[in-house]
Amino acid sequence: DVQSLLLFSVVFLVIADYVKNRRPNSFPPGPWALPFVGNIFSVDFSKTHESLTKTYGDVYSLRMGQTWMVVLNGFNTLKEALLTQGHCVADRPILPLQDDVAPNQGIITTNGHMWKHQRRFALFTLKYFGVGKKSLESAIVDESMHFCKEIADLKGKEPFNPHIITNNAVANIICTLVFGHRFEYGDEKFMKLMGLLDKGIQIEASIWAQVLYFIFMRVPGPHHTIRKIYSDFMDLIKVDISKHKEDWDPSEPRDYIDCYLMHTDSQATFYEDNLIICALELFVAGSETTSTTLRWAFLYMAKYPEIQEKVQAEIDRVIGQSRQPSMMDRANLPYTDAVIHEILRMGNIVPLSLPHSTNNEMQLGNYTIPKGVVIIPNLTSVLFDKKEWETPYTFNPGHFLNEEGKFVKRAAFIPFSAGKRVCLGENLARMELFLFFTSFMQRFTFSMPSGVKPVLDYRFGVTLAPIQYKICTELYCSSNITPKQQH
Ligand code: HEM
Repeated sequence: DVQSLLLFSVVFLVIADYVKNRRPNSFPPGPWALPFVGNIFSVDFSKTHESLTKTYGDVYSLRMGQTWMVVLNGFNTLKEALLTQGHCVADRPILPLQDDVAPNQGIITTNGHMWKHQRRFALFTLKYFGVGKKSLESAIVDESMHFCKEIADLKGKEPFNPHIITNNAVANIICTLVFGHRFEYGDEKFMKLMGLLDKGIQIEASIWAQVLYFIFMRVPGPHHTIRKIYSDFMDLIKVDISKHKEDWDPSEPRDYIDCYLMHTDSQATFYEDNLIICALELFVAGSETTSTTLRWAFLYMAKYPEIQEKVQAEIDRVIGQSRQPSMMDRANLPYTDAVIHEILRMGNIVPLSLPHSTNNEMQLGNYTIPKGVVIIPNLTSVLFDKKEWETPYTFNPGHFLNEEGKFVKRAAFIPFSAGKRVCLGENLARMELFLFFTSFMQRFTFSMPSGVKPVLDYRFGVTLAPIQYKICTELYCSSNITPKQQH
């Protein structure tokens, strides 16, 4: 009868799923996976890792639907996988959403030739326009002035939410890189760009959007909004590309677009639609990340006023109030540098890095991981590794200082990940964080509105970001300068 046929079919499908998706031999262990869905509903990615490593060790596996994932934990494991055997885990898994809207385009989600060409080009361009040289550096210094003016214009000690203004300031640096200029914060085109980015990032970062896309790719529905966002973004950038073509001097490229146009005829992976996707990715990867870190910075400074005072005193001593900070100052500001590193460590804004996948079979300890398995480098487990940090869960700039107060590098400091896929904007991000942070600390003291305690809780989205908050700023006034010298 129908009932037994149904029961037989279900049992058959469960057995088929079990046989098809059994853990391969010598594969890392992991929790029991439900038929069809695997561990999708049993694992909370923001919390469960510590308990899983206790049971299964530093390398364990999870099944997400039909896909196997191996999660890597702890400094030694990540070092072995990402650095020593980096050539085995250089690929990204293909995600249905990205594959539909920008198949094999851009840098972040591509593999092979496409990825190599685009990554190399972007790194070269970033270097050319000034990580360490003048141009992007001066753009950041200039932007921090605009930011400070915006804050100074706010009335007195009125609490404000720093989210949007920080996003704007940071996005303007990517605008300078891509378009060759910044925008006023109220500019219509800029606001449109920021709106699209915000919507696009929220969708791309949502696991549910990815799942919906996977299941209902061919069915029209709200999950397809992302296509509209991509096409609106393309329209916006196409106008700029046309303008660039009109007044373009190949001997003096002004920005990323100019440099890209020089390549479009020479190599097959360089074409205009790909330029747009790469530009979009620079915005996506380079705005929210740095902006979130700065928002953690304000919060930590408000929570630890004594650390804030020490930073201000150091800046006062080395730079004073009469000039803007520059990258040359970094070596003379070890305490400030250590505080920025500790903000990045504790902020832990990309806790599971981005997914990698094995492009070769890989031997990790006693385990064999076949080609095509998704690899999750758990950066949290390294940034808070008890074996690497003296006080892993306490905000402690001393992690980056030696006994004489000199700055020391720490190998387990990997908020930008490591190896072949290491963050492409690491140098730019470090420069932005240093220049923005020192400029803010030079001028303002951050504090919570009266009666409000700083909450270090986070929400898990695109980045691990502080919950929206309001903060107060007061003009910083050092004891050794007269009020007249201040502004
Ligand atoms: C990738 C962190 C800022 C561009 C990544 C990854 C992490 C990361 C963890 C994944 C690495 C991996 O897969 O192993 C951060 C943090 C930032 C930051 C913490 C700021 C505080 C930036 C900026 C840019 C950028 C400013 C652009 C200018 C990229 C790109 C990738 C990437 C393009 C993909 C690289 C590839 O697949 O080859 N970032 N990032 N990031 N980041 Fe960043």
